[in-house]
Amino acid sequence: MSVIDSISGLFERRGVEVRGERLIKVYRNGPLEVQALRGVTVRFPPGRMYVVMGPSGSGKTTLMNLLGGVDRPTGGTVYHGDMRIDNLGDTELDDHRLDYVGFVFQTINLVPTLTAWDNVELPLLFKKVPKSKRVERVEKLLEAVGLRGKARHKPSELSGGEQQRVAIAVALANDPPIIIADEPTAELDYENARKIVDILHALALKHGKTVIVTTHDPRVAVRADKIIRLEDGVTKGEYTPVELEKAYAPTTGGSGEAGVYGLTNIVRARLARVQEEIEELRRKLVSGEIGIEEAFERYQDLQRQKRALEDLLASIGG
Ligand SMILES: Nc1ncnc2c1ncn2[C@@H]1O[C@H](COP(=O)(O)OP(=O)(O)OP(=O)(O)O)[C@@H](O)[C@H]1O
Ligand SMILES: [Mg+2]
Repeated sequence: MSVIDSISGLFERRGVEVRGERLIKVYRNGPLEVQALRGVTVRFPPGRMYVVMGPSGSGKTTLMNLLGGVDRPTGGTVYHGDMRIDNLGDTELDDHRLDYVGFVFQTINLVPTLTAWDNVELPLLFKKVPKSKRVERVEKLLEAVGLRGKARHKPSELSGGEQQRVAIAVALANDPPIIIADEPTAELDYENARKIVDILHALALKHGKTVIVTTHDPRVAVRADKIIRLEDGVTKGEYTPVELEKAYAPTTGGSGEAGVYGLTNIVRARLARVQEEIEELRRKLVSGEIGIEEAFERYQDLQRQKRALEDLLASIGG
């Protein structure tokens, strides 16, 4: 359990549904065009942690930027609850984002010359929160991420994991309903990655926020309520890591820290089972036990699962 669960009065705003509809993003560099997203429709209701996975260059960061209002789509619409945000004016969009969305990035974006405390205070200063409230809130935020003792440290005097936790405190300063984290654990070891995921998970499950995370990291993926797979700018289905989740959670008195190697075996076994099911499906189709339509639907589903598992396996080097 993370400290974040036990601090009251810090997170009062619940999440809202984040929706992207038929999102298209084309980057133009002179004569060159990159179609980063080719019609992505996604929906993220609050109270859950979602993971977006996919190969490098598949459009994950692009999608996060559009959903969070950092960038605008070439086509399609983005909603935060009932509010359409892609057609807001620049100032309106900036104000809305500052108030509504907390971003956590892979490359930690703290101000290097400021202490942890001052970094967390910045967004509150921008929002003109009065001094006494600021002090109380910064203290609670640092406590929530387990860093009260390091308030006076500058980023260079903190470990990577600690810096990322400060970055989360910064992202949470204004109590945003939506939290978007783009590969937040990419540079962290197991213990630190777990702390980050614990915090993100608690924000969704305990505080009802809308939490969307991109990752290559299976330690993050197994904790997701839903995994969305992105490939070459289009979604390739949704995937629930139920079996992985089960195998990863504390079972018969286990610690719940099965670790990456245990996970490789779990994914391999699951992959083998999916392969068997595909063979079985072929057999049934050939013998006329099931019709082509049913077989096709089932086959697509199995292929989706297979790709998601292969993705996980690749990302844990299995
Ligand atoms: N500002 C930009 N200008 C031109 N092309 C871009 C820009 N940003 C991203 N792209 C291209 O858009 C595509 C999607 O990039 P994006 O950063 O969204 O991928 P990603 O899934 O986040 O990859 P990674 O896992 O490596 O972070 C890539 O082909 C990338 O080269
Ligand atoms: Mg990226």
